[in-house]
Amino acid sequence: MDLGLTGKVAIVTASSRGIGRAAAEMLAAEGARITMCARTTADVMTAAEQIRGRTGTDVLAVPADLTRAEDIQRIVDRTVETYGTVNILVNNAGGPAPGAFDAVGEADWRAAFEMTLLSVVRMTRAVLPCMRKGGGGVIINIQSTSVKVPLDNLILSNSIRSSVIGLAKSLSFELAKDGIRVNNVLPGAIMTDRQREMLALQSARSGKSVAEIIRLREAAIPLGRFGEPEDLGNMIAFLASERARYVTGVTVQVDGGLVRSLM
Ligand SMILES: NC(=O)c1ccc[n+]([C@@H]2O[C@H](COP(=O)([O-])OP(=O)(O)OC[C@H]3O[C@@H](n4cnc5c(N)ncnc54)[C@H](OP(=O)(O)O)[C@@H]3O)[C@@H](O)[C@H]2O)c1
Repeated sequence: MDLGLTGKVAIVTASSRGIGRAAAEMLAAEGARITMCARTTADVMTAAEQIRGRTGTDVLAVPADLTRAEDIQRIVDRTVETYGTVNILVNNAGGPAPGAFDAVGEADWRAAFEMTLLSVVRMTRAVLPCMRKGGGGVIINIQSTSVKVPLDNLILSNSIRSSVIGLAKSLSFELAKDGIRVNNVLPGAIMTDRQREMLALQSARSGKSVAEIIRLREAAIPLGRFGEPEDLGNMIAFLASERARYVTGVTVQVDGGLVRSLM
């Protein structure tokens, strides 16, 4: 199936590793021109070089911290200078710090708000003029199944990610007249560096080995395994594509069946 992504310009944020990187790689493989970002310059440069090498498409790497307004504007400015427009925005970011209510303070709440909600607000605001001028666009927010089933010891994620879903639904109404679709993708348990860190934390807290925790968690996933970043990349590329042209305002989990809710 031709996804119709050839030549489209896609910004994928927080993309030197994990889910963001898989999204960038899949969109590049489908012929989109890509802007990637992350805070660690060497990592984002290397990732861009590798994706360029594998796909032969244009990949721009912009070192940037998504909690800084000026960095967000720079990501968009560099993209427009390089490619002339923006058609697709994939809002990914680092996850909020783990912890239960008693373990997180005022500074943690502010940091999570800036990283998780405000970065999406700022990125969206920065790309809208281009998308409107170009007659349309696609915005995809990567959040978490915690918006459907709150997760233990992740009070910041459980609280703040839901606000992105509310924002996205409102934007899907407001931006439809501009031809801009807005959707959310919720990773379940995906084997990335962040997941490995969470597994190590769970192991330290529970006294169980990481292998034992993985075995127990996989037993609760109907498809019987952790997801790979590429499983997310496939869904993101579909939602970004012409094949999803009638899909807006939805929130889709990619979780191997983990979330046991009807909707
Ligand atoms: N993996 C899962 O199972 C899972 C499940 C549910 C939700 N999620 C969420 O999905 C998102 C991606 O997770 P992941 O597992 O792919 O994470 P990951 O493997 O740890 O990768 C995170 C990426 O984000 C970049 N990043 C982090 N903070 C940033 C910042 N302030 N500005 C710019 N870039 C930043 C990192 O690069 P630098 O460190 O160099 O900046 C890296 O490229 C997170 O929000 C996570 O909470 C993941």
